[in-house]
Amino acid sequence: MKFKIAVIPGDGVGPEVTAQARKVLNAVAHVYDHTFLYEEALMGACAIDKTGNPLPQKTLEICKKSDAILFGAIGDPKYDNDPNAKVRPEQGLLKLRKELELYCNVRPVKAYDKLIKNSPLKKEVIQGTDITIYRELTGGIYFGIKELSDDGSVAFDGCSYTVEEIERMAHLAFRAAQSRKKKLTLVDKANVLETSRLWRKTVTNLASQYPNITVETMFVDNAAMQLILNPKQFDVILTENLFGDILSDEASVIGGSIGLLASASVGKTNALFEPIHGSYPQAKGKDIANPLASILSVAMMLEHLGLHEEAGAIENAVEKSLALGITTEDLNSEKPFSTSKVGDFIADYIYNQEDSDMNFQNIHMGQSTII
Ligand code: IPM
Ligand code: MG
Repeated sequence: MKFKIAVIPGDGVGPEVTAQARKVLNAVAHVYDHTFLYEEALMGACAIDKTGNPLPQKTLEICKKSDAILFGAIGDPKYDNDPNAKVRPEQGLLKLRKELELYCNVRPVKAYDKLIKNSPLKKEVIQGTDITIYRELTGGIYFGIKELSDDGSVAFDGCSYTVEEIERMAHLAFRAAQSRKKKLTLVDKANVLETSRLWRKTVTNLASQYPNITVETMFVDNAAMQLILNPKQFDVILTENLFGDILSDEASVIGGSIGLLASASVGKTNALFEPIHGSYPQAKGKDIANPLASILSVAMMLEHLGLHEEAGAIENAVEKSLALGITTEDLNSEKPFSTSKVGDFIADYIYNQEDSDMNFQNIHMGQSTII
């Protein structure tokens, strides 16, 4: 089959990890006889530098006509450290999410057996954890009215949600729970926030349409604690934009590295796939960033495109690299592999699965079987 893939490498380590994801996608194309037509586009600090705009119109057009978007990372310290900056890289990503109505962000969190020792949390606490966070992505405080008084002494960020925004999101989370362990936890702050009370009411009303799902509600402060105290209690977590942003970074500790967490952002017509780690500017250009989150984002993309076997092949290859310790320094401080070597191994494994031991040897000798 043939697919149009918009590729936005973005800032920091984005281009390096996205290059590995593309390498892996090329292996899938070769083995399973698909064609991926890539079109590269600018977004973020690199787009500001080149065009003055964090989301150039051309990028938006390329994304709109794509079957899927593969995105790297966004952000640059020169903007983070300047509170007066009028244009910011992150505005590009937020605008893209809004323009394409990518309202549902899916972030799977899994404790890989091989990596349990990498987590600062105890083995018995995290072993067997398998959570999917459903984060609303185009509403709430991220997109509310923002104001700063003329003298700069008062700032305001508004948070609003409509029943419709909550319902469309909740349906997807309920459906996900149906194909998993049949439990949905709504995380909110309904003891304080009006928007959270609307979430609770709306989700509780919808629950009758999904009688086989156990619905539980939890305040976000408690959820933050429960997530590291007893993560196995969760199956699907449904939550609003800001809470989901925070909880998903926290949850990455369970997997042993934020460099492993992939995500999908889907709307009615478009879908974007990205690692949840940021631009990690300290590592930029050093070939040390973990490419697995970007590679796993490609697996999510293939699932979305209906290519289940292909997605499974990537997941297997990632498991294999973890099992053999062919990983970057965040997971392997003693004998780390570079970003591109990890990408080579995974692509090789897909090209030539039965030959994995040979690949392993080659990787150790510094040569991949990839030409
Ligand atoms: C994320 C990121 C973004 C967010 C930033 C880069 C705007 O942290 O995707 O989690 O806050 O949504
Ligand atoms: Mg975040």
